[in-house]
Amino acid sequence: MKKGYNKPNLKSLYYDVEVKKIPSLNGKTIAITGTTTGIGYVAAKTVAERGARTILLNRKSDRSKTSLERLKSELPESNFENIECDLQSFESVRTAARKVTDLCINGLDSLCNNAGIMALKDTATVDGFDVQMQTNHLSHFLLTKELFPVLKIAAELRGDARVVNHSSIARYGDKKLKAEYFEKRGGNLGGDSSNMIVASITRKGRWARYSQTKLANAAFTACLHEKFQQAGLHNLKSLVAHPGVAMSDLQTTTVKDGGMSAWLARQMMKNGQTMEDGALAVIKCMTDEDAQSGTFYGPGKGLMAAKGKVVSFDLEKFYDNRQAKDLLWRKSCEAIEQDFIV
Ligand SMILES: NC(=O)c1ccc[n+]([C@@H]2O[C@H](COP(=O)([O-])OP(=O)(O)OC[C@H]3O[C@@H](n4cnc5c(N)ncnc54)[C@H](OP(=O)(O)O)[C@@H]3O)[C@@H](O)[C@H]2O)c1
Repeated sequence: MKKGYNKPNLKSLYYDVEVKKIPSLNGKTIAITGTTTGIGYVAAKTVAERGARTILLNRKSDRSKTSLERLKSELPESNFENIECDLQSFESVRTAARKVTDLCINGLDSLCNNAGIMALKDTATVDGFDVQMQTNHLSHFLLTKELFPVLKIAAELRGDARVVNHSSIARYGDKKLKAEYFEKRGGNLGGDSSNMIVASITRKGRWARYSQTKLANAAFTACLHEKFQQAGLHNLKSLVAHPGVAMSDLQTTTVKDGGMSAWLARQMMKNGQTMEDGALAVIKCMTDEDAQSGTFYGPGKGLMAAKGKVVSFDLEKFYDNRQAKDLLWRKSCEAIEQDFIV
Protein backbone atom coordinates (compact mmCIF):
# COMPACT_ATOMS: atom_id res chain seq x y z
CA MET A 1 0.00 0.00 0.00
CA LYS A 2 1.24 3.49 -0.89
CA LYS A 3 1.91 5.98 1.87
CA GLY A 4 -0.39 8.90 2.60
CA TYR A 5 1.43 12.21 3.01
CA ASN A 6 3.24 14.15 5.72
CA LYS A 7 0.66 16.43 7.23
CA PRO A 8 1.88 19.95 8.03
CA ASN A 9 1.44 21.32 11.56
CA LEU A 10 -1.62 23.54 11.73
CA LYS A 11 -3.23 25.22 14.72
CA SER A 12 -6.94 25.74 15.28
CA LEU A 13 -7.86 29.42 15.31
CA TYR A 14 -11.62 29.38 15.86
CA TYR A 15 -12.80 26.07 17.29
CA ASP A 16 -12.28 26.71 21.02
CA VAL A 17 -14.06 30.05 20.93
CA GLU A 18 -16.93 28.94 18.70
CA VAL A 19 -17.87 25.75 20.60
CA LYS A 20 -18.45 27.81 23.73
CA LYS A 21 -21.32 29.54 21.87
CA ILE A 22 -23.20 26.28 21.18
CA PRO A 23 -26.44 26.11 23.17
CA SER A 24 -27.28 23.07 25.28
CA LEU A 25 -28.39 20.12 23.12
CA ASN A 26 -29.92 18.17 26.00
CA GLY A 27 -32.96 16.22 24.85
CA LYS A 28 -31.93 16.31 21.20
CA THR A 29 -30.87 13.41 18.99
CA ILE A 30 -28.39 13.96 16.18
CA ALA A 31 -27.31 11.40 13.56
CA ILE A 32 -24.06 11.87 11.64
CA THR A 33 -22.60 9.75 8.84
CA GLY A 34 -18.86 9.13 8.65
CA THR A 35 -17.61 9.73 12.19
CA THR A 36 -14.59 7.42 12.19
CA THR A 37 -12.19 10.26 11.38
CA GLY A 38 -11.98 13.89 10.34
CA ILE A 39 -14.84 16.34 10.45
CA GLY A 40 -17.48 13.74 11.33
CA TYR A 41 -15.50 12.66 14.38
CA VAL A 42 -15.07 16.26 15.58
CA ALA A 43 -18.73 17.04 14.92
CA ALA A 44 -19.94 13.94 16.81
CA LYS A 45 -17.71 14.70 19.78
CA THR A 46 -18.78 18.36 19.84
CA VAL A 47 -22.55 17.79 19.77
CA ALA A 48 -22.29 14.92 22.27
CA GLU A 49 -20.32 17.16 24.62
CA ARG A 50 -23.17 19.69 24.49
CA GLY A 51 -25.66 17.01 25.52
CA ALA A 52 -27.07 15.48 22.32
CA ARG A 53 -27.70 11.78 22.06
CA THR A 54 -25.46 11.04 19.09
CA ILE A 55 -26.07 8.36 16.50
CA LEU A 56 -22.96 7.37 14.57
CA LEU A 57 -23.53 5.92 11.12
CA ASN A 58 -20.43 4.14 9.89
CA ARG A 59 -19.51 1.17 7.76
CA LYS A 60 -18.03 -1.76 9.66
CA SER A 61 -14.26 -1.44 10.16
CA ASP A 62 -11.56 -1.30 12.81
CA ARG A 63 -11.67 2.51 12.41
CA SER A 64 -15.33 2.50 13.31
CA LYS A 65 -14.71 0.35 16.39
CA THR A 66 -11.68 2.33 17.56
CA SER A 67 -13.29 5.73 17.03
CA LEU A 68 -16.36 4.66 19.03
CA GLU A 69 -14.13 3.47 21.88
CA ARG A 70 -12.25 6.76 21.75
CA LEU A 71 -15.43 8.82 21.86
CA LYS A 72 -16.76 6.79 24.78
CA SER A 73 -13.53 7.12 26.74
CA GLU A 74 -13.27 10.88 26.04
CA LEU A 75 -16.93 11.48 26.93
CA PRO A 76 -17.99 8.71 29.32
CA GLU A 77 -21.20 10.56 30.30
CA SER A 78 -22.41 10.95 26.73
CA ASN A 79 -24.92 8.79 24.93
CA PHE A 80 -23.56 7.28 21.68
CA GLU A 81 -25.40 4.80 19.47
CA ASN A 82 -23.34 3.15 16.76
CA ILE A 83 -25.22 1.83 13.75
CA GLU A 84 -23.62 0.06 10.82
CA CYS A 85 -24.26 1.94 7.58
CA ASP A 86 -22.28 1.41 4.41
CA LEU A 87 -23.08 4.21 2.00
CA GLN A 88 -21.88 2.08 -0.90
CA SER A 89 -24.92 -0.16 -0.48
CA PHE A 90 -28.58 0.92 -0.57
CA GLU A 91 -29.53 -2.23 1.33
CA SER A 92 -27.17 -1.28 4.16
CA VAL A 93 -28.59 2.27 4.22
CA ARG A 94 -32.18 0.98 4.40
CA THR A 95 -31.31 -1.38 7.25
CA ALA A 96 -29.52 1.43 9.11
CA ALA A 97 -32.47 3.78 8.62
CA ARG A 98 -34.85 1.22 10.15
CA LYS A 99 -32.60 0.96 13.22
CA VAL A 100 -32.35 4.76 13.55
CA THR A 101 -36.14 5.02 13.23
CA ASP A 102 -36.59 2.47 16.05
CA LEU A 103 -34.29 4.57 18.24
CA CYS A 104 -36.08 7.82 17.42
CA ILE A 105 -39.68 7.43 18.53
CA ASN A 106 -39.35 10.97 19.91
CA GLY A 107 -37.88 12.28 16.69
CA LEU A 108 -34.53 13.00 15.10
CA ASP A 109 -33.43 16.62 15.53
CA SER A 110 -30.60 16.68 12.98
CA LEU A 111 -29.38 14.39 10.25
CA CYS A 112 -25.89 15.36 9.17
CA ASN A 113 -25.02 13.84 5.79
CA ASN A 114 -21.30 14.25 6.30
CA ALA A 115 -19.43 11.16 5.03
CA GLY A 116 -17.54 11.42 1.79
CA ILE A 117 -14.74 10.23 -0.43
CA MET A 118 -12.76 12.26 -2.93
CA ALA A 119 -11.30 11.60 -6.37
CA LEU A 120 -11.24 7.82 -6.12
CA LYS A 121 -10.95 5.45 -9.08
CA ASP A 122 -13.77 4.99 -11.56
CA THR A 123 -15.45 1.99 -9.95
CA ALA A 124 -19.01 0.79 -9.38
CA THR A 125 -20.74 0.05 -6.08
CA VAL A 126 -22.73 -3.17 -5.58
CA ASP A 127 -25.74 -1.19 -6.84
CA GLY A 128 -23.91 -0.21 -10.05
CA PHE A 129 -23.45 3.52 -9.39
CA ASP A 130 -20.25 5.55 -9.30
CA VAL A 131 -18.59 4.93 -5.95
CA GLN A 132 -18.26 8.66 -5.27
CA MET A 133 -21.82 9.61 -6.29
CA GLN A 134 -23.42 6.83 -4.27
CA THR A 135 -21.32 7.47 -1.15
CA ASN A 136 -21.46 11.25 -1.25
CA HIS A 137 -24.99 11.88 -2.49
CA LEU A 138 -27.31 9.02 -3.54
CA SER A 139 -27.12 7.11 -0.26
CA HIS A 140 -27.59 10.34 1.69
CA PHE A 141 -30.65 11.10 -0.44
CA LEU A 142 -32.05 7.65 0.46
CA LEU A 143 -31.13 8.04 4.14
CA THR A 144 -32.87 11.42 4.30
CA LYS A 145 -35.98 10.00 2.63
CA GLU A 146 -36.11 7.07 5.06
CA LEU A 147 -35.57 9.29 8.10
CA PHE A 148 -37.95 12.03 6.99
CA PRO A 149 -40.79 10.74 9.26
CA VAL A 150 -38.64 10.94 12.41
CA LEU A 151 -37.29 14.36 11.39
CA LYS A 152 -40.92 15.52 11.12
CA ILE A 153 -41.64 14.18 14.62
CA ALA A 154 -38.79 16.26 16.09
CA ALA A 155 -39.95 19.33 14.17
CA GLU A 156 -43.47 18.92 15.54
CA LEU A 157 -42.40 18.14 19.12
CA ARG A 158 -39.55 20.62 19.51
CA GLY A 159 -40.16 23.15 16.74
CA ASP A 160 -36.94 22.53 14.81
CA ALA A 161 -35.39 19.70 12.82
CA ARG A 162 -32.59 19.86 10.25
CA VAL A 163 -31.00 18.10 7.33
CA VAL A 164 -27.38 19.17 6.95
CA ASN A 165 -25.50 18.32 3.77
CA HIS A 166 -21.75 18.57 3.32
CA SER A 167 -20.55 20.15 0.09
CA SER A 168 -17.18 21.61 -0.91
CA ILE A 169 -15.40 24.30 -2.87
CA ALA A 170 -15.32 21.53 -5.50
CA ARG A 171 -18.93 22.43 -6.33
CA TYR A 172 -17.43 25.12 -8.56
CA GLY A 173 -15.52 22.49 -10.61
CA ASP A 174 -18.35 21.92 -13.06
CA LYS A 175 -21.30 24.18 -12.42
CA LYS A 176 -23.77 22.08 -14.38
CA LEU A 177 -25.21 18.85 -13.00
CA LYS A 178 -25.19 16.02 -15.53
CA ALA A 179 -27.68 13.15 -15.60
CA GLU A 180 -25.13 10.43 -16.43
CA TYR A 181 -23.42 10.72 -13.03
CA PHE A 182 -26.66 9.60 -11.31
CA GLU A 183 -27.02 6.51 -13.50
CA LYS A 184 -25.76 2.93 -13.22
CA ARG A 185 -22.56 3.76 -15.06
CA GLY A 186 -20.06 3.15 -12.26
CA GLY A 187 -16.72 2.15 -13.77
CA ASN A 188 -17.62 3.85 -17.02
CA LEU A 189 -17.69 7.48 -16.04
CA GLY A 190 -14.57 9.14 -17.37
CA GLY A 191 -11.68 6.98 -16.21
CA ASP A 192 -8.93 7.44 -13.65
CA SER A 193 -7.14 10.62 -14.68
CA SER A 194 -6.10 12.50 -11.55
CA ASN A 195 -5.17 15.70 -13.35
CA MET A 196 -7.26 18.58 -11.94
CA ILE A 197 -6.49 20.92 -14.83
CA VAL A 198 -7.43 18.30 -17.42
CA ALA A 199 -10.63 17.62 -15.44
CA SER A 200 -11.56 21.31 -15.54
CA ILE A 201 -11.24 21.33 -19.35
CA THR A 202 -12.49 17.88 -20.37
CA ARG A 203 -14.96 17.49 -17.46
CA LYS A 204 -13.71 13.93 -17.12
CA GLY A 205 -11.83 11.88 -14.55
CA ARG A 206 -11.74 11.53 -10.78
CA TRP A 207 -12.04 15.25 -9.98
CA ALA A 208 -14.91 15.81 -12.40
CA ARG A 209 -16.84 13.03 -10.66
CA TYR A 210 -16.06 14.45 -7.21
CA SER A 211 -17.18 17.90 -8.34
CA GLN A 212 -20.53 16.50 -9.53
CA THR A 213 -21.12 14.87 -6.13
CA LYS A 214 -20.43 18.08 -4.22
CA LEU A 215 -22.64 20.06 -6.61
CA ALA A 216 -25.31 17.40 -5.95
CA ASN A 217 -25.01 17.99 -2.17
CA ALA A 218 -25.73 21.69 -2.69
CA ALA A 219 -28.54 21.08 -5.21
CA PHE A 220 -30.15 18.53 -2.85
CA THR A 221 -30.16 21.21 -0.13
CA ALA A 222 -31.88 23.64 -2.52
CA CYS A 223 -34.50 21.00 -3.45
CA LEU A 224 -35.28 20.13 0.16
CA HIS A 225 -35.52 23.78 1.15
CA GLU A 226 -38.00 24.44 -1.64
CA LYS A 227 -40.06 21.34 -0.84
CA PHE A 228 -40.17 22.11 2.90
CA GLN A 229 -41.42 25.63 2.13
CA GLN A 230 -43.99 24.44 -0.40
CA ALA A 231 -45.30 21.84 2.06
CA GLY A 232 -45.57 24.47 4.81
CA LEU A 233 -42.99 22.59 6.90
CA HIS A 234 -41.43 25.75 8.30
CA ASN A 235 -39.93 23.94 11.31
CA LEU A 236 -37.82 21.78 9.02
CA LYS A 237 -34.55 23.29 7.81
CA SER A 238 -32.38 22.30 4.89
CA LEU A 239 -28.81 23.54 5.29
CA VAL A 240 -25.46 22.97 3.64
CA ALA A 241 -21.87 23.47 4.73
CA HIS A 242 -18.38 23.39 3.30
CA PRO A 243 -15.21 23.13 5.42
CA GLY A 244 -12.80 24.98 3.15
CA VAL A 245 -9.63 22.88 2.94
CA ALA A 246 -9.47 20.95 6.20
CA MET A 247 -6.77 18.53 7.31
CA SER A 248 -8.68 15.28 7.78
CA ASP A 249 -8.14 11.79 6.36
CA LEU A 250 -9.88 12.74 3.11
CA GLN A 251 -6.67 13.68 1.31
CA THR A 252 -4.80 10.67 2.79
CA THR A 253 -7.35 8.29 1.26
CA THR A 254 -7.13 10.12 -2.08
CA VAL A 255 -3.32 9.99 -2.12
CA LYS A 256 -3.37 6.25 -1.33
CA ASP A 257 -5.79 5.65 -4.21
CA GLY A 258 -3.62 7.62 -6.68
CA GLY A 259 -6.01 10.58 -6.91
CA MET A 260 -3.36 13.18 -6.06
CA SER A 261 0.33 13.24 -5.22
CA ALA A 262 1.60 13.38 -1.65
CA TRP A 263 3.44 16.60 -2.59
CA LEU A 264 0.25 18.28 -3.83
CA ALA A 265 -1.71 17.20 -0.75
CA ARG A 266 0.91 18.73 1.51
CA GLN A 267 1.03 21.99 -0.48
CA MET A 268 -2.77 22.26 -0.39
CA MET A 269 -2.85 21.63 3.33
CA LYS A 270 -0.31 24.35 4.06
CA ASN A 271 -3.03 26.78 2.95
CA GLY A 272 -5.77 24.91 4.77
CA GLN A 273 -7.05 24.65 8.33
CA THR A 274 -7.42 22.03 11.06
CA MET A 275 -10.27 19.55 10.96
CA GLU A 276 -11.64 21.22 14.12
CA ASP A 277 -11.91 24.58 12.37
CA GLY A 278 -13.18 22.81 9.25
CA ALA A 279 -15.91 21.10 11.30
CA LEU A 280 -17.38 24.39 12.53
CA ALA A 281 -19.54 24.86 9.41
CA VAL A 282 -21.50 21.60 9.83
CA ILE A 283 -21.59 22.14 13.58
CA LYS A 284 -23.15 25.58 13.07
CA CYS A 285 -25.70 24.11 10.66
CA MET A 286 -26.75 21.63 13.36
CA THR A 287 -26.68 23.99 16.34
CA ASP A 288 -27.05 27.66 15.36
CA GLU A 289 -30.41 28.69 16.83
CA ASP A 290 -30.78 31.46 14.24
CA ALA A 291 -30.05 29.25 11.20
CA GLN A 292 -32.52 29.81 8.36
CA SER A 293 -33.42 27.01 5.98
CA GLY A 294 -31.78 27.39 2.57
CA THR A 295 -28.50 28.76 3.93
CA PHE A 296 -24.90 27.81 3.18
CA TYR A 297 -22.26 27.90 5.96
CA GLY A 298 -18.52 27.86 5.39
CA PRO A 299 -15.28 29.80 5.75
CA GLY A 300 -16.40 32.20 3.03
CA LYS A 301 -17.93 31.95 -0.42
CA GLY A 302 -16.02 31.40 -3.65
CA LEU A 303 -13.10 29.33 -4.89
CA MET A 304 -10.57 30.87 -2.51
CA ALA A 305 -12.51 30.16 0.71
CA ALA A 306 -10.03 27.58 2.01
CA LYS A 307 -9.95 28.74 5.63
CA GLY A 308 -11.35 31.30 8.02
CA LYS A 309 -14.20 32.10 10.36
CA VAL A 310 -17.51 30.54 9.36
CA VAL A 311 -19.94 32.88 7.63
CA SER A 312 -23.36 32.19 6.15
CA PHE A 313 -24.54 33.01 2.63
CA ASP A 314 -27.42 32.28 0.26
CA LEU A 315 -27.60 29.21 -1.94
CA GLU A 316 -26.12 29.96 -5.37
CA LYS A 317 -28.03 30.16 -8.65
CA PHE A 318 -25.91 27.62 -10.55
CA TYR A 319 -27.57 24.76 -8.60
CA ASP A 320 -30.55 26.57 -7.07
CA ASN A 321 -32.43 26.77 -10.38
CA ARG A 322 -35.38 24.87 -11.87
CA GLN A 323 -33.36 22.71 -14.25
CA ALA A 324 -30.73 21.59 -11.71
CA LYS A 325 -33.28 20.91 -8.97
CA ASP A 326 -35.60 18.92 -11.25
CA LEU A 327 -32.68 16.87 -12.58
CA LEU A 328 -31.30 16.16 -9.10
CA TRP A 329 -34.65 15.02 -7.71
CA ARG A 330 -35.72 12.96 -10.72
CA LYS A 331 -32.38 11.16 -11.14
CA SER A 332 -31.98 10.51 -7.39
CA CYS A 333 -35.48 9.00 -7.15
CA GLU A 334 -34.74 6.88 -10.21
CA ALA A 335 -31.51 5.65 -8.60
CA ILE A 336 -33.14 4.57 -5.33
CA GLU A 337 -36.18 3.29 -7.30
CA GLN A 338 -38.61 5.11 -5.01
CA ASP A 339 -40.33 8.48 -4.82
CA PHE A 340 -39.41 10.82 -2.00
CA ILE A 341 -42.63 12.63 -1.13
CA VAL A 342 -42.16 15.66 1.10
N1 LIG B 1 -11.35 17.84 4.36
C1 LIG B 1 -11.59 18.72 3.41
O1 LIG B 1 -10.74 19.55 3.03
C2 LIG B 1 -12.94 18.74 2.76
C3 LIG B 1 -13.17 19.72 1.80
C4 LIG B 1 -14.42 19.79 1.21
C5 LIG B 1 -15.41 18.90 1.58
N2 LIG B 1 -15.14 17.95 2.52
C6 LIG B 1 -16.23 17.01 2.85
O2 LIG B 1 -16.26 16.76 4.23
C7 LIG B 1 -16.85 15.47 4.46
C8 LIG B 1 -16.07 14.76 5.55
O3 LIG B 1 -14.78 14.46 5.06
P1 LIG B 1 -13.46 14.54 5.94
O4 LIG B 1 -12.66 15.64 5.38
O5 LIG B 1 -13.78 14.53 7.37
O6 LIG B 1 -12.77 13.16 5.49
P2 LIG B 1 -12.36 11.85 6.27
O7 LIG B 1 -11.52 12.15 7.46
O8 LIG B 1 -11.78 10.95 5.23
O9 LIG B 1 -13.75 11.26 6.78
C9 LIG B 1 -14.65 10.70 5.87
C10 LIG B 1 -15.65 9.85 6.62
O10 LIG B 1 -16.55 9.29 5.66
C11 LIG B 1 -16.66 7.90 5.92
N3 LIG B 1 -17.02 7.09 4.76
C12 LIG B 1 -16.38 6.98 3.57
N4 LIG B 1 -16.99 6.06 2.81
C13 LIG B 1 -18.04 5.58 3.54
C14 LIG B 1 -19.05 4.61 3.30
N5 LIG B 1 -19.10 3.89 2.18
N6 LIG B 1 -19.97 4.38 4.27
C15 LIG B 1 -19.92 5.05 5.44
N7 LIG B 1 -18.99 5.98 5.72
C16 LIG B 1 -18.07 6.24 4.78
C17 LIG B 1 -15.27 7.52 6.41
O11 LIG B 1 -15.35 6.27 7.06
P3 LIG B 1 -14.32 5.05 6.81
O12 LIG B 1 -13.38 5.09 7.97
O13 LIG B 1 -15.21 3.84 6.81
O14 LIG B 1 -13.65 5.26 5.49
C18 LIG B 1 -14.99 8.68 7.34
O15 LIG B 1 -15.60 8.46 8.58
C19 LIG B 1 -16.90 14.78 3.10
O16 LIG B 1 -18.21 14.81 2.59
C20 LIG B 1 -16.01 15.65 2.22
O17 LIG B 1 -16.39 15.65 0.86
C21 LIG B 1 -13.94 17.85 3.11
